[in-house]
Amino acid sequence: MRRYPYPSWKRNPAAMLRDKGVVAFLRRIRLMLMLRLHYALWDSRFELIETVPTSGKLQKKDLSPDDASNLGQASEYAPSPRLVVQWLVDGLGEDLSGYTFLDFGSGRGRVLLAAAERPFRAARGIEFSGQLHREAVRNISNYPADRLVCPDVQSVCEDALEYPLPEGDCILYFYNPFGVDLMDKVVCRAVDTAHARRSRIIVIYYNPVHHKVVSSKTRLKPRPLSFIPQLKLTLFSPYPVKVYEMTQG
Ligand SMILES: C[S@@+](CC[C@H](N)C(=O)[O-])C[C@H]1O[C@@H](n2cnc3c(N)ncnc32)[C@H](O)[C@@H]1O
Repeated sequence: MRRYPYPSWKRNPAAMLRDKGVVAFLRRIRLMLMLRLHYALWDSRFELIETVPTSGKLQKKDLSPDDASNLGQASEYAPSPRLVVQWLVDGLGEDLSGYTFLDFGSGRGRVLLAAAERPFRAARGIEFSGQLHREAVRNISNYPADRLVCPDVQSVCEDALEYPLPEGDCILYFYNPFGVDLMDKVVCRAVDTAHARRSRIIVIYYNPVHHKVVSSKTRLKPRPLSFIPQLKLTLFSPYPVKVYEMTQG
């Protein structure tokens, strides 16, 4: 069985070279380089317009959700590169005006705002940390109006498992927000709801550590992207991405 190619960030390079060999070491170097390039060449510019900078990390112990029942499954806060989000959305080649974009585990709102620069019907970020949610609300309310194409952008402070899927077609974005059990429950619930309503969902999974949970859902099929955005993602996305869709057959 092929292993997921990106081992833990926490490993030090010398140990990785010893344990995993040259290929894993080079992958880690590429990952660090791409993360730094995205920040230096693009995402750092947005700190001029963000009320609360979305870069940086927040450790799991500092997330402090009101309802901590799923804290054990949570990942720390770390943002996706904006360009990766926009290449993914553009690569779908869809009329986005019929879709609601959902970022599960939306942190300070970076992905939500990157998506809202596209003509979605609505964009929602679901974040269980009250602090990150409040920071996202400030970022949304002060974001330059001329950049926002989506008319309805909101951060919701709620556990991902409690959030009801909005009516209509939805794009679900995950940047590895939680562990395998919660990922399974959230995806199952979304697939069952959409199937019952005969609506469409597209699942975008950045850094798909638990991709088997998603690919094992028989109603979800891999979704190809158009050539140029896919090429940009292959060359320049720090982590791999996987995209799936559920159509009503
Ligand atoms: C890796 S960060 C991704 C942030 C953002 N989506 C992005 O890509 O820039 C994961 C986020 O998921 C949130 N999270 C973890 N478990 C959650 C849960 N059960 N419900 C809602 N949010 C959760 C964390 O607080 C964190 O902000």
